Amino acid sequence: MENPVGVFDSGVGGLTVLRELVAALPSERFVYLGDTARVPYGGKSAETVTRYSIEIANHLIRRHDVKLLVVACNTASSLALPTLRKIYKIPVVGMVDPCVRRAAALAGKGGIGIIGTTGTVRSGAYEEAIRAGIPAARVRAIACPLLVSLAEEGWTGNAITRAVVAEYLSPFRADPPDVLILGCTHYPVLKGAIRDFLGEGTVLIDSGEEAARVVDILLSETGARRSGGPGGVEFLVTDDPERFARIGREFFGDFLEGIHRVAL
Ligand code: DGL
Repeated sequence: MENPVGVFDSGVGGLTVLRELVAALPSERFVYLGDTARVPYGGKSAETVTRYSIEIANHLIRRHDVKLLVVACNTASSLALPTLRKIYKIPVVGMVDPCVRRAAALAGKGGIGIIGTTGTVRSGAYEEAIRAGIPAARVRAIACPLLVSLAEEGWTGNAITRAVVAEYLSPFRADPPDVLILGCTHYPVLKGAIRDFLGEGTVLIDSGEEAARVVDILLSETGARRSGGPGGVEFLVTDDPERFARIGREFFGDFLEGIHRVAL
């Protein structure tokens, strides 16, 4: 199927998810929309994040005829996914279920930690999915809102970032979890600092990697895979592309070409 896969996020962070999708599915075409005019979503209400998510989904479906929608933003996945799934006929993949699936395979009855934005943690979406799938697991979720700004600043491993990571994750110090779900688009770039604090005994779950696995399976199962290669990415933003291009490079791991500004 020639149609592209739609991917959206509040801004640049979702490029960590896109990077995994492109690596796993090199023949697919992707349209990525970063809502840079309205970022951050992490502290906004469920109503607002849901409204923004619907506006973006409408744009990607009506203008780009996407065959599948990936909600790369963990906050939007936690707050808006059920509504999006009710509205649209195409498959909608969020970040919560793929991460919980992986946690179930790894943790069993052990401890599962979740870190994310205030909105993600307040929603309880991860805990709910874990309770349903892994009832015996011990779960602890911690909001780490400052990590978003540190990651965008490019401070991925300096003393300040290490101190902030240590402060947020201090409840895990005495009893590190078996797995930690990195429940925010920005945290994969901070993996080193997080791993150094928790030690090798904790497996870090990257939502982009897990979502890419799920999308891969879904496209195969539904016969929607694109057969011709190679694929590519079109980048859309709702504000000036300059900052997105500069910061996004770190998150995507490559130059971003073909960025267009759109009005929703
Ligand atoms: N993309 C958001 C998330 O994964 C982080 C940035 C924001 O707060 O918008 O939750």
